[in-house]
Amino acid sequence: MLRKKKNRIGIVGCGAIGSYLAKEIDANFGDKANLCGLFDISLDKAYALSSALGKKKIAAISLEDLVKRCDLVIEAASASVVREVVKSSILAKKDCLVMSVGGLIDSKALFEQARARGCRIYIPSGAIAGIDAIKAASLSKIEKIILTTRKPPSAFIGVAYVLKRNINLEHIETETSIFEGDVDTALRLFPQNINVAATLSLASRDKKKITVRIITSPEYKNNIHEIEIFAESGKIFTRTENVAFADNPKTSFLAALSAVAALKNILEAVKVGT
Ligand SMILES: NC(=O)c1ccc[n+]([C@@H]2O[C@H](COP(=O)([O-])OP(=O)(O)OC[C@H]3O[C@@H](n4cnc5c(N)ncnc54)[C@H](O)[C@@H]3O)[C@@H](O)[C@H]2O)c1
Repeated sequence: MLRKKKNRIGIVGCGAIGSYLAKEIDANFGDKANLCGLFDISLDKAYALSSALGKKKIAAISLEDLVKRCDLVIEAASASVVREVVKSSILAKKDCLVMSVGGLIDSKALFEQARARGCRIYIPSGAIAGIDAIKAASLSKIEKIILTTRKPPSAFIGVAYVLKRNINLEHIETETSIFEGDVDTALRLFPQNINVAATLSLASRDKKKITVRIITSPEYKNNIHEIEIFAESGKIFTRTENVAFADNPKTSFLAALSAVAALKNILEAVKVGT
């Protein structure tokens, strides 16, 4: 549960997003928050980041060690560990901010446990725009949602589905659709898109209404996500053209910024947006 005084924050995953958040909290959160723990499966990364911040005592040796040090746990590690991080946080009655949201799809029981123990799970908008509007629109009737993701061919190198369908990425010259289908199939076949589709699916509260389209072209330089919503409240269209994050080109810079913005929103007295 968050406190009125300085909130103690711990981060699981000291990669691109975790490191960015750690530096932001340390430099810009003043009297609102205190970075008190860093954990990474590679302990060296946690030690390196803590010493880069000049805070040698904040590297934690285990997830449990990190959770007990803080009021809010930030997960910025991997879809394979996010459930464990959330479970440990709930057990210790701590709140949690989650980046690897793809690992939380179909987690009704876990969300119920959080509610029962008075814990909050925060899921930032990540690499897409319009989550606020989707949440509001989903309170009336949503007819359909179309998520169209455009990425350069290099983003699909090694994807099993692309290899199986003999799609020759090097020979693609124009806009080419490589997938159209439901959220569950998209998550299974294109795990790289997992967070965007999962966030959209949780916000809309009905993944059956969502169609995912994935398109590639050598003309694309950035990852582009378009969301079209047809609802009783009207039509919504958002388009995000994301710049890759310098420390990890697979991650959008906007995703890291969205985590910082979500954290500010949690700690501010005045909250803007849905
Ligand atoms: N919500 C979104 O829109 C969005 C956008 C981009 C990335 N993400 C997700 O955020 C997460 C972090 O992204 P990133 O770019 O910082 O990745 P990254 O690869 O740069 O960093 C991940 C870090 O987590 C550590 N890690 C991996 N497994 C771990 C475990 N079991 N326990 C502790 N640490 C572990 C790694 O050693 C690494 O240091 C990823 O899961 C990514 O898919 C979400």
